[in-house]
Parts: sequence; structure tokens; C-alpha cells
Amino acid sequence: MRKVQKAESVLAAQGGQPVRARLLPYGHQSIDEDDIRAVVEVLRSDWITTGPKVAEFEEAFADYVGARYAVSFSSGTAALHGAAFAAGLGPGDEAITTPMTFCATANCVLYQGARPVFADVCSDTLNLNPDEIGRWITSHTKAILPVDYAGHPADLDPILELADRNGLVVIEDACHALGAEYKGRRVGSISHMTVFSFHPVKHITTGEGGMVTTNDAELARRLRMFRNHGIDSDARQRQAQGQWYYEMVSLGYNYRLTDIGCALGLSQLRKLDANLARRRQIAARYADALRNVPALIPPAVRPDVNPAWHLYPTRLDLPKLCVGRAEIFRALRVENIGVNVRYMPVHLHPYYRERFSYQGGECPVAERAYEQLISLPMFHGITDQDIEDVIGAVRKVLEYYARHE
Ligand SMILES: Cc1ncc(COP(=O)(O)O)c(C=O)c1O
Repeated sequence: MRKVQKAESVLAAQGGQPVRARLLPYGHQSIDEDDIRAVVEVLRSDWITTGPKVAEFEEAFADYVGARYAVSFSSGTAALHGAAFAAGLGPGDEAITTPMTFCATANCVLYQGARPVFADVCSDTLNLNPDEIGRWITSHTKAILPVDYAGHPADLDPILELADRNGLVVIEDACHALGAEYKGRRVGSISHMTVFSFHPVKHITTGEGGMVTTNDAELARRLRMFRNHGIDSDARQRQAQGQWYYEMVSLGYNYRLTDIGCALGLSQLRKLDANLARRRQIAARYADALRNVPALIPPAVRPDVNPAWHLYPTRLDLPKLCVGRAEIFRALRVENIGVNVRYMPVHLHPYYRERFSYQGGECPVAERAYEQLISLPMFHGITDQDIEDVIGAVRKVLEYYARHE
């Protein structure tokens, strides 16, 4: 069945030489001297939180994505929570979302006492399938939360049309998709609210941090209030006006992003275009080199989008392999390639299974894809040699395990 192996093609998992000496992570931040200088400058200033850098970062970010308003938060998760609040989600309400995401997308609905409802995904992009949404809309539905999985924008036009027809709010989770484009428009300028994350593996980082963009002044006001305890003004505004008086008008949280984080974010934002260009170059090289690797399916790209490539999620054509995903994953890790699996569908997590009686089988497209998924390293700082190591290791492992009938 299997051919005799040449010495260099013996898998590291079987005592051979790994493709690399050190593990290549699947994602990593890029911090340069400009970033460090920007942070130090704030540390030497009067304001280390809720000062001038917050407004500066928000304005620059809104400008970049082409939105009227940007409201910063202490994490992408806090930003999602803020968006769920601003959308008016509460007990008795439902929000339709995708299972192919990080659990925070659905958790933000639960934080507001509402119920997330999972609709299945498209088989090519693994994004929320607009044709699946309709059957889940009830008189309780208040919002739709599509996710731009891996940085490929969801099919937003039909989702927004559905929302329009049914009076729903669209909260787009674009934590993977800063800089992505959908039909020539930048993600962040399209949905009612769009949420971003600045976790270190994302396109830009503030350590922890997040943002919501919107074109709606009232939503922006509610977002600002929510991240500041439900208080209608912030400390800097009061100081500028020489006032002490404030009112808490709704229940909010301390979800503020610091001036330290915003200074880092501003400095990172200046390098975003270079970061995106590099990610697109890496994706193109992967797609070209992996085209003929047995049993490997590269991620689909629809013709009307320009993805931001947070992840590079390949899929395994399992019937063409003599082992399962777990063995392939392990073999690549031992070759020192930091592969990952994104995501186990949210409804299959024990918390969701127990609370909502999910048993598996509810979202068959997402569930089948989950069994096949394997993400390759993707980040700005990856070198050309790193890319070739990934390609070499994937080829080595999959050629070894391919079924030779
Ligand atoms: C799709 C998605 N949504 C939300 C989040 C939460 O963002 P954060 O880690 O900044 O809270 C993440 C983070 O990984 C994510 O990938």
C-alpha cells in the first residue's frame, strides 16, 4: 500500500527529523520600536486611561473602516456585550448566530439574558448561511450575528435584507476581519454594528481590546454609556467642563480601553495595510503550493470579497486519508508546525449542550466541517522560510497518510 520512505520523509512522529527545530506558532503579535515608544509616551503623560488617546484611536479607526462612529472596549468580548446591549437584547429575546465561531459571539447574547439560536453555515466559506436564517426567525428574534469566519466576510447583503424585512439588528462579529472587503466596501461600514478584537493574534493589538463601529448616533451613545457603568459622561469630559456631576442612567460595566492600549492601537493601525498585504501574500503562496497536496482542501474565497486572513483554515478530505484529523494534527505538531482547529461548533460545547439540550446533528454542515478543519500558521511576522516549512510539512504528512488504492 505505502511506498518505501526516503530518510528525509520519515515523519517526526515516527522518529524522523522534524521539518523545523522550533515550533512555529499559529499566530503571533508584531510589536516594533514605534509601538514601544508610543506606549512609553503615554506612560509619561497625565492620562493613562480615558484620556486623549482613546478619542484619537476611535477616530482613526472609524476613518479606516469608513464608519461614522467607533467605540472602544476592553476586549472583543466586552464589545460584543456592548453591541448586544445597544441592540436592546434582553430576557425573552432571541438572536440568530453561527455555530462556527469562538464562543464569545453567542455568549454575549446570554449575558443580556436572551437566547442564541444557531443556524447552519455555507459549505464553502463556513459563514452563516442566509438561506438557513429565515426558518429560525420568530416573533422573539431581535438580532442576527454573522461572523466573518477566518477573515472572509459573511454574505452581508442578504442578511441585511432579511434584517430589514423583519426589523432586526445585525451585529457583525468581525473579530477576524479587520481590513476585509465585501463587494468593494470595508467591513465595519456595512452592518448596523460591527465588532472587532485587538487580542494579540488579531491584525492589530492593544494587548486586550475591542471596538464597535456603527453609522448610528444613538447606537454609539448607548455603546459609550454601557462601557462606562451606564454613566452619560466620562471623567475627561467632566474635567474639561469643570464639573463633578454625573448620572448613571442604565446598568453598565467598566469595559473601558486604556490610553496605554489606545496608543498601541494607533501605532499598530498605521501598519495595518502592510500586515494585510503580507497575510494576503501568505494565503496566495499557501493556495498555490498546496493545490496538489493529496486530501487537502484550501479555504474558499468568493469572487466578491477580499479576505483579511486571520486564519488559514484548510479542510481534510478524510476518505482520501488512512488516518483521521487527530493523527494528522499530531503529526504536524511534531514537525513543529503550530496547526490549530478553529472551531468546535459552539452548540457542541458542554455548557450549551447542557443548558439547551443540543445533542449534535442540529447544524450538520458546521459539524461535518469541524471534523475536517485544520488551520495553518498565519500572521504578519511569518518569514518566507516559515511558509516553506509549513508547506513542506503538510506535503510530507499528507503524502505519507494518503490512501494509495
Ligand atoms: C470570532 C471571535 N469573536 C469574539 C472574540 C473575542 O475577542 P476577545 O478575545 O478580544 O475578547 C474572538 C477572539 O478570539 C473571536 O475570534
